[in-house]
Amino acid sequence: MTEKQPFFIKEIREQPKILANTLSQYLGPNRHLKMARPPLDDQTLRKIQRVYITACGTSYHAGMTARYIIEELSQLPTVVEPASEAGCHQLLVDQGTLAVAISQSGRSPETLAALNLAKARGAATLAIANEVASPLTEAAEGSLMTLAGQVFTLSSTKAFTCQTLILYLLAIRLAQSRGLMRDEWLRELENLGRIPEMARHVLAMEDKVVLLAKKLASYDHVFILARGALLPMAYEGALKLKEVAHFHAEGYSMGEFGHGPLALARANTPIILIAFSDEIDSTTLALARAFKARGAPLFLITEDGLKKDQALTSMAEGFFPLPAAHPRLRPMVAILPLQLLAYHLGRLKSLDVDNPGGLLSSLDYLKTDFAI
Ligand code: F6R
Repeated sequence: MTEKQPFFIKEIREQPKILANTLSQYLGPNRHLKMARPPLDDQTLRKIQRVYITACGTSYHAGMTARYIIEELSQLPTVVEPASEAGCHQLLVDQGTLAVAISQSGRSPETLAALNLAKARGAATLAIANEVASPLTEAAEGSLMTLAGQVFTLSSTKAFTCQTLILYLLAIRLAQSRGLMRDEWLRELENLGRIPEMARHVLAMEDKVVLLAKKLASYDHVFILARGALLPMAYEGALKLKEVAHFHAEGYSMGEFGHGPLALARANTPIILIAFSDEIDSTTLALARAFKARGAPLFLITEDGLKKDQALTSMAEGFFPLPAAHPRLRPMVAILPLQLLAYHLGRLKSLDVDNPGGLLSSLDYLKTDFAI
């Protein structure tokens, strides 16, 4: 009898199709972005001077990556924070703010509360959700739907890449509304059109992740290092490893790692470093040398082919090859091996990857207290 596949891996493998589907839904004739309903209409956007993004968990990581892209393309200052922190400080949003709340389910109470707080202060509110009718989409002035289809697992994967893609499209919409990207947007969309194929290419190398999982399985901790827009992917990969594989993992800024945490790099603590070729600099190499000197096993998620950095790969025990990608596409590509790694590590430990038990809101006995 063939074993039933967990939803978690099915949803990971669905991503190329879903990304293609999402792109086609948001691109109209002549590649015009179909994102003009309030609060993304020209009149509202003309007033926007800053962006506030809020979400929980995996959705928060999508927001963190979006900040790099929104700031770069639209030049709008962007703040991102976990929704649970929104009520813990003076939330400086106003009529000049576009508040974006991201949630796969549209039901995380903290995200809803943060959106309502921003709304009460006059911000234009936008929900990004996968559930068409949800408290979040009802509360927001307008919404963009991630078209990830029905989600069966508690740990978000396909909704996450869809969120990242839609936030990228939103960055283009914001830039256009400010008279920026007059010539570049077509090229930008062409670039984005490559993402489903890249995702397919990466997911086809699952056997390489299986090898990595087998090598890591004997350890208890791992650090995942990255920088820039890839840093939230290190956080997200670490979240998946903790949640789905019950494996202690920390995502950390590559630049910050040498300011203290390096003390933990030793033979029993492997390090996964995510970096594309043009991001490998003297700091990356200095860190890799320090890991080698301390006996900490180094694994790379990096670009394949001629551009592969020999100095770095020669110090590594394992290597997952990524296709060359435009910097703004890299987060969506780099997260895929980490999702697969969480799955295979979880399976090696015989865990129920569809019900990892890490979400407070999914525990029945807490539901009444947790609901708003
Ligand atoms: C982790 C995970 C969670 C959710 C978080 C927010 O794998 O899925 O961290 O992302 O609970 O849920 P939504 O996006 O439904 O608001």
